[in-house]
Amino acid sequence: MSTVFSSKNPSPRQLSFITAIIISTVNALLSLFLLQEWYIPLLVFATTFIIIYWLYYYTLQRFIYRKIKIIYKFIYQTKATKKEEFFYENILPQKSIEEVSADVQRWATQKKDEIDMLRANEQFRKEFLMNLAHELRTPIFTIQGYVDTLLNGALDDPNVNKKFLTNANKGIDRLVRLVDDLDEISKLESGRIPIIQESFVIQDLVKEVFDELSLKAKEKHIQLQVKKGTERPLEVYADKPKIRQVLVNLVENAIKYGHEYGNVTAGSYEVDGKHIYTEISDDGPGISEEHLPRIFERFYRADRSRSREIGGTGLGLAIVKHIIEAHGQTVNVRSTLNVGSSFGFTLEKAEE
Ligand SMILES: Nc1ncnc2c1ncn2[C@@H]1O[C@H](COP(=O)(O)OP(=O)(O)O)[C@@H](O)[C@H]1O
Ligand SMILES: [Mg+2]
Repeated sequence: MSTVFSSKNPSPRQLSFITAIIISTVNALLSLFLLQEWYIPLLVFATTFIIIYWLYYYTLQRFIYRKIKIIYKFIYQTKATKKEEFFYENILPQKSIEEVSADVQRWATQKKDEIDMLRANEQFRKEFLMNLAHELRTPIFTIQGYVDTLLNGALDDPNVNKKFLTNANKGIDRLVRLVDDLDEISKLESGRIPIIQESFVIQDLVKEVFDELSLKAKEKHIQLQVKKGTERPLEVYADKPKIRQVLVNLVENAIKYGHEYGNVTAGSYEVDGKHIYTEISDDGPGISEEHLPRIFERFYRADRSRSREIGGTGLGLAIVKHIIEAHGQTVNVRSTLNVGSSFGFTLEKAEE
């Protein structure tokens, strides 16, 4: 008995049992004193036990556990299914008030986490809109400025009219690039475009991208090359057009931000027998440590004025990250100021 009493978490059944035992024992003892018949106390014990046990149990159920059941229904917010009916009938009555309170606390913590996450998203959305407005304003002001000047007379000045139009057109190009990148990112985020995987040799795709960007590289006298010792063809299982875009974004950045007469190197390595790691490295200006953790955020630029001048949308790396994460893989960056940067990502290795 004492062990039952000392247990801190009696269930209603246990409580009813204990109470019934105590009262029926007292009654039985009393009746033993008053009536000397041996069977009467037994009878008294049995009847009192049954009556008290059920009465007590019923009251507990009715006034406490029915209410608790409502709480459970509320926190799970569902119509009772078969499984839940079983829970209400068989498991809930076994639970002590302490266990119920722990359940409710767990539920409250979970709700709090959800609310925190929603708040963070809301903050993120606000910042995104602010950044977007800012990004749109710059090219629009440029276009507006040149068009205004042209309308106010410059149109008839053959020395500047073509130049101003060309400048206005650059602003339009930038708007188009921004909208294209935004479109891409929102498509990726909505999960509307599926990842369609196929097997292909990653070095072949790297070479295609190098060819595609060879003109841009030539303009800056930059060498695009495959790292020595990583020529052995490695087959990956991934969405080829999307990985092509990842490579284009990384190689474009390496060219754009790299020094003239610099080098851009691509290397592919097999890791842990299941993944292929591909890295695009440059010997450009590098990115300082304070910027590195945020470099994949939308609109984040390490060198604001310079990067914008070069004409980026600030969305390239955000798109890269999205694509790689949609593959369930990871992307990372290593960089040292005045030495260079390396952007690498993993892909699933194709089955042989
Ligand atoms: N290879 C690199 N070397 C130096 N800085 C880089 C490199 N790649 C990216 N960055 C920095 O990261 C920022 C974000 O890159 P990205 O998302 O592609 O945007 P952007 O449109 O400006 O190219 C760039 O503005 C630049 O400051
Ligand atoms: Mg870029």
